[in-house]
Amino acid sequence: MDNLTRFLFLLLLSAAATTNTTAHNITRILAKRPEFSTFNHYLTLTHLAGEINRRQTITVLAIDNAAMSTLLDKHLSLPTLKNVLSLHVLVDYFGAKKLHQINNSTTLVSSMFQATGAAAGTAGYVNITNLKGGKVGFAAEDNDGSLHSFYVKSIQEVPYYISVLQISHAISSADAEAPTAAPSAIDLISIMSKQGCKAFADLLRPSKALPTFNENIDGGLTVFCPSDSAVNGFAPKYKNLTEAQKVSLLLYHGVPVYQSLQGLKSSNGLLNTLATEGPNRYDFTVQTQGEDVSLKTKVNTASIVGTLIDQDPFVAYKIDKVLMPRELFKDTVEAPAESPKPSKKKKPTKKGADSSDAADAPADGPSDDSADQKAADEDSNGVSALHDAFTIFTLLFSLLLAFLPLSS
Ligand SMILES: *[C@@H]1O[C@H](CO)[C@@H](O)[C@H](O)[C@H]1NC(C)=O
Ligand SMILES: *[C@@H]1O[C@H](CO)[C@@H](O)[C@H](O)[C@H]1NC(C)=O
Ligand SMILES: *[C@@H]1O[C@H](CO)[C@@H](O)[C@H](O)[C@H]1NC(C)=O
Ligand SMILES: *[C@@H]1O[C@H](CO)[C@@H](O)[C@H](O)[C@H]1NC(C)=O
Ligand SMILES: *[C@@H]1O[C@H](CO)[C@@H](O)[C@H](O)[C@H]1NC(C)=O
Repeated sequence: MDNLTRFLFLLLLSAAATTNTTAHNITRILAKRPEFSTFNHYLTLTHLAGEINRRQTITVLAIDNAAMSTLLDKHLSLPTLKNVLSLHVLVDYFGAKKLHQINNSTTLVSSMFQATGAAAGTAGYVNITNLKGGKVGFAAEDNDGSLHSFYVKSIQEVPYYISVLQISHAISSADAEAPTAAPSAIDLISIMSKQGCKAFADLLRPSKALPTFNENIDGGLTVFCPSDSAVNGFAPKYKNLTEAQKVSLLLYHGVPVYQSLQGLKSSNGLLNTLATEGPNRYDFTVQTQGEDVSLKTKVNTASIVGTLIDQDPFVAYKIDKVLMPRELFKDTVEAPAESPKPSKKKKPTKKGADSSDAADAPADGPSDDSADQKAADEDSNGVSALHDAFTIFTLLFSLLLAFLPLSS
């Protein structure tokens, strides 16, 4: 190829490489500014930081520690505070320049509060209005006719990915500050039942362990839900446990932090569970081999075979075995012969022949269903890894080309 083609090709490749490096991190952007440390802290605490980083075109309206302190004086619960703060994240790009050039001087912009569906009607829209003397005012759409908050300065702009602007006061609205439905809109039992963990959900529903799961959803919760066939095979052992031990066993399947699949893969090590208390460690070890994540107790090892729901701060994975904590089964050594599931359960021969079997079937073993699910999970979680690999590839390729003799 001639030199011009080579040059254009290189240009194209480096452009492709740079577009992959635009991933932003709001925590890091604000960390350089101590006057926004409280705002930054609460973005992390409410898990809004993760949602901001995942979005491509976004404007964050940051408020300084003094303004944040006024907001905190309202003593809102964390989920309510999350609603208020999500009003400060606009799902469109507004650099300082665009802000001052709003057509007809006023506009309504959708915020993350609107985008997540938590707002009633249009309560999640933010009114931006250009005022006299270059002032720009902000208010929630359902404002009382006054603009309480004003543009102060631009903190960082990466057109058209993320813009971080300072505004003078918190934007708020009656709707955003309304107490959120306690404890959470997420119905753990119904999600598990619908997604192939019915047997485990049936154990959890009447159990004293359930409130503990629900209480943790808002603050961060990861549930490892054994498949129906795993729970059915475990039934004789479960029946043998005392009531208190049953509660501990169920709690053992919850971890009181949000753990993304990517996070699990990179954090090989001990995880405490909802059952962990003082000397009763009830922990297990996460082990990754390639794309496979397994959970290793002192008694047995289970593998993650799919994701039921991943809505930061709540995530639930399907696993192929009931986790057996050493605290309850220290004398049990899981015989290798036990792995092939007890033949008690017949393979469903005719579809719908038996309703419980039919309901069970898609959840069993490595069915197409869970394999698809797994592939889908890896797809959504592997995007950044793919981008990284692509970036490295294009860089290497550009280098290679650059070293080729120019007169080929
Ligand atoms: C963002 O930056 C913070 C602080 O440097 C770091 O703890 C966090 O892991 C980063 N998040 C991502 C998604 O890279
Ligand atoms: C204003 O309108 C012009 C032309 O319709 C458009 O190009 C521009 O992006 C608009 N500005 C804003 C802030 O929406
Ligand atoms: C500005 O306002 C006028 C009259 O209210 C309207 O006709 C026009 O469409 C508006 N322009 C934009 C860009 O919103
Ligand atoms: C925004 O609020 C101001 C002041 O209440 C109001 O005059 C203006 O019409 C509002 N803008 C929009 C687009 O609703
Ligand atoms: C139930 O407990 C008894 C007494 O501890 C034990 O002998 C038996 O093996 C247990 N059964 C199962 C299925 O674990």
